[in-house]
Amino acid sequence: MNVPFFKIHQRQEDVDAVSAIIKRGSHWALGPEIEQFELELAHYIGTKYATTFNSGTSALHAMLLAYDIKVGDEVIVPSFTFIATANAVKMVGASPIFADIDSTSYGLNFDSVYEKITSKTKAIMPIHYAGGMCWDIEVLQELCKEKKILLFEDAAQSLGASLKGQKAGTFGDASIFSFCQDKVLPLGEGGCVVTDNKAIYDKMKLIRSHGRLEIGENYFSATDNFNYVTLGYNWRMPTILASLGISQLKRIDQTIKLRQEKGALYHEYLMKSGINKKVYSPYIGTINSDRYNHVCQKYTIQSNHRDDLQRFLKSKDIQSRAYFGLPVHLTQYYKDLGYKETLPTTESLAKRVLSLPIYPDLTTAEIKYVVDCIREFVTCN
Ligand SMILES: Cc1ncc(COP(=O)(O)O)c(C=O)c1O
Repeated sequence: MNVPFFKIHQRQEDVDAVSAIIKRGSHWALGPEIEQFELELAHYIGTKYATTFNSGTSALHAMLLAYDIKVGDEVIVPSFTFIATANAVKMVGASPIFADIDSTSYGLNFDSVYEKITSKTKAIMPIHYAGGMCWDIEVLQELCKEKKILLFEDAAQSLGASLKGQKAGTFGDASIFSFCQDKVLPLGEGGCVVTDNKAIYDKMKLIRSHGRLEIGENYFSATDNFNYVTLGYNWRMPTILASLGISQLKRIDQTIKLRQEKGALYHEYLMKSGINKKVYSPYIGTINSDRYNHVCQKYTIQSNHRDDLQRFLKSKDIQSRAYFGLPVHLTQYYKDLGYKETLPTTESLAKRVLSLPIYPDLTTAEIKYVVDCIREFVTCN
């Protein structure tokens, strides 16, 4: 049996949606589907506005530009994240200040963040890991209000997740999501920024379109002289992807339910096989409770023999990933900038985490096979 790390959940309606735009032969850029997708995304997430981008990374970059984060500013971020979270801070000339995480939700830890606040701190940007939620997000929100610091959520991996009924993306002043191919809503590439702030929303649209006002579908057919009012980029999402997004969003509840069923099956089989203590999974018992809705973008276990386990699974044709196996502050680029080992929980978890295959079409037989192979490894080690 060959079990890939992820498989894209695609259906005939996705093919039809994309084909319709291709056949239309017009408005492949900034077509009406862009605005429709944005309205539907904002409605689903629970914010007033959503602006689409061509990646989660450009969405992060645009969000920081829109809030005027710049040279001399500090933004507190986790190091247990994808590199783009910290890189976006560097891209606007500010300094990422890495704080530690809690070992259960893998989210930024309040106490560690608190210690890092200085007079230069302009924002705190937690991530929601792997379809879960940063469990300290509410206290971080209170802290930001008290200290008059901005709160941004990097919710790239957690579309649809919630804590006590409040969805990822609605705690921060603004938040981003990614639609890269392994995410909950996979468009290949893409991202969005959500916010309730109209002025920020307007800035975001300028930034993604060369600093020129977008006038709906007429952006490309306008014949009048147009002006460029600020510095901008070309970070727009293509219409074809927005139409794929509209199609995927129609069945997002079903997609998430399927992911959660797979997560629950992993729990069940790991518990039943009696190895749940050797390959610890902090999610056990927490998926889809009233308090916490984890959308299982990844299913992460922890093992003291992680690298050997990963090699063993590979020998059994099972793809797994040490996600995030190299904390951002210990990558070459950041080490060269002078960052050093200072985050004990992050550094220890990075050596132990292993994400197993999970996707909506993963079969029960595949999950059993993965758990059987883990058990085989664990009994010999
Ligand atoms: C936490 C986090 N932030 C940002 C990104 C960047 O998103 P993208 O790959 O769409 O640029 C990712 C992508 O994996 C991510 O996991």
